[in-house]
Amino acid sequence: MIFYFSATGNSRHVAKVIAEKTGDRYADITECLKKELYNFIADKSENIGFVFPVYNFGLPVTLCRFIDKLNIKTNGNYIFTVATYGGFSGGASKIIKKMLAEKNIAVKAQYSVRMPDTWTPIYDLSDKNKVSERNKEADKAADKIIKRINKKKNGNFDYRHIPFSDYFYKDYENLRRTSSLSVEDSCIGCGMCAKNCPENAIEIRKGKPAWVKEKCAMCLGCLHHCPQFAIQRGENTKKHGQYVHP
Ligand SMILES: Cc1cc2nc3c(=O)[nH]c(=O)nc-3n(C[C@H](O)[C@H](O)[C@H](O)COP(=O)(O)O)c2cc1C
Ligand code: SF4
Ligand code: SF4
Repeated sequence: MIFYFSATGNSRHVAKVIAEKTGDRYADITECLKKELYNFIADKSENIGFVFPVYNFGLPVTLCRFIDKLNIKTNGNYIFTVATYGGFSGGASKIIKKMLAEKNIAVKAQYSVRMPDTWTPIYDLSDKNKVSERNKEADKAADKIIKRINKKKNGNFDYRHIPFSDYFYKDYENLRRTSSLSVEDSCIGCGMCAKNCPENAIEIRKGKPAWVKEKCAMCLGCLHHCPQFAIQRGENTKKHGQYVHP
């Protein structure tokens, strides 16, 4: 069983290609949370994986919520994590390993894959060729990970971790404020942003999204998936473009 959290498709893609090659099932953490599915029994033959994006050198709050509630009966399974990231994975692998250990889920191997950086308040994803090259490299990295998973390798293969990243992760709390998100007049009130928000932080009011929680996961899923590209965060996101994994 491979659990994934993904706002813009990178982690979903990696979870899917791993599952296709290992024969494992895969499950969307956002769906599990929405349907309150937290209890799982792992068959002896299956791997257990967690695939997720790095946020502020740490973990998305949605993933933490799921792990808090997760109750999984393991059976000597090979357990691994895969962090997808744009630059550095920071302390994400270390944090998830500790969280899972507290639930008696002993991680055997940790991996990471560099992918297009969806934090477009800073990173520019408007050059489609560069984005496509990055995704080709990511697929090669995923192939190497699959080989190691199939050989049940143990160890830390997350080569982009940074030891002292706590300070940056603490700042995620400030970054999560929904007051930083805005909507432009081009919004057609389709409701997609509200329906797909993993934190249920959006309601459609008077035909436009309204952020009804003070903080969200700041996954930028609403910004990148909007059919009108009407949601923005600050001055740069418009020129840096929208992105979802092809
Ligand atoms: C709020 C936020 C914070 C991020 N922080 C980091 C980071 O600290 N380091 C990094 O390398 N990438 C960072 N990224 C980029 C994502 O981890 C990366 O693009 C990931 O593959 C997105 O996965 P997804 O498409 O499955 O959501 C961040 C993205 C977001 C939205
Ligand atoms: S997804 Fe975009 S167009 Fe649809 S309601 Fe949300 S902001 Fe408006
Ligand atoms: S409001 Fe937007 S950025 Fe925040 S969690 Fe929901 S989809 Fe993600």
